Amino acid sequence: MDPQHPPVRVERRAVDESESRAANRRDWDNYADEYQSTHGAFLGDAGFVWGPEGIGEEQLGLLGDVSGKRVLEVGSGANQCSRWLLTRGEWAVGLDLSLRQLQHARRIDEETGLTVPSVNATATDLPFADDSFDVVFSSFGALQFVADIERAVAEVARVLTPGGRFAFSITHPTRWMFPDDPTEAGLVASQSYWDRTPYVEVDDATGRVAYVEHHRTLGDWVRILAHAGFRLVDLAEPEWPEDHDRVWGGWSRTRGLLTPGTAIYVADLA
Ligand SMILES: C[S@@+](CC[C@H](N)C(=O)[O-])C[C@H]1O[C@@H](n2cnc3c(N)ncnc32)[C@H](O)[C@@H]1O
Repeated sequence: MDPQHPPVRVERRAVDESESRAANRRDWDNYADEYQSTHGAFLGDAGFVWGPEGIGEEQLGLLGDVSGKRVLEVGSGANQCSRWLLTRGEWAVGLDLSLRQLQHARRIDEETGLTVPSVNATATDLPFADDSFDVVFSSFGALQFVADIERAVAEVARVLTPGGRFAFSITHPTRWMFPDDPTEAGLVASQSYWDRTPYVEVDDATGRVAYVEHHRTLGDWVRILAHAGFRLVDLAEPEWPEDHDRVWGGWSRTRGLLTPGTAIYVADLA
């Protein structure tokens, strides 16, 4: 048996924040080596892509003008995006739940000579004082992995300065209607868009929750942001580039040319 991929069964059921966090920390620690060896070249040691479409901050400019600003990346993995900001002469801190992901960050820091300060912590309990940052962003990190999303967004609002920007990418909520399959089978809706029951993988041998993802609809995200005091500025839905043929999990050209795979919310704190 491959210890990185023990047999799991998939369920849809409620999972609270502590169970969710413990499972995802274990999973990302176990998966980090494979994640970086599979996707590292695509991400670039100092690259900033918003999702599997390969469209980056260079093209979209969703963070706005970051010159001289204090930036926090949440769910930063190996800090590739923050390192890209460093190459632009900017300053960013990476935060991730997985120590193994941050060990990869350190390795890349040493290889490139571009060091991003990192913190091992959870998005639901940011270890920073109020008003510490001007920009907080996340590229597929943390937001869809936390159960207590209201708390995570309130934490971002707390550490942001008034008028600060929050931008984050997640799996496009409409993808939850479809099987997570990169082939045409992944184009046939089979579950309710409105079913918010988390996706859970349970370790067959131990019965322990091994991985969790949480679904919120497009409208849920608007309400969550508004409730925390944010004003929505943009909802970017990057189009799949015609010549892009890379498969990443359920993301592929086959599906990407027809349906959105990534949603990027951009919101400013009032
Ligand atoms: C899909 S990876 C994205 C990493 C990086 N942004 C990238 O593009 O490669 C998701 C990351 O979120 C982190 N993560 C999951 N739950 C988290 C939490 N509660 N707080 C902080 N980070 C979390 C994982 O450890 C993982 O590194």
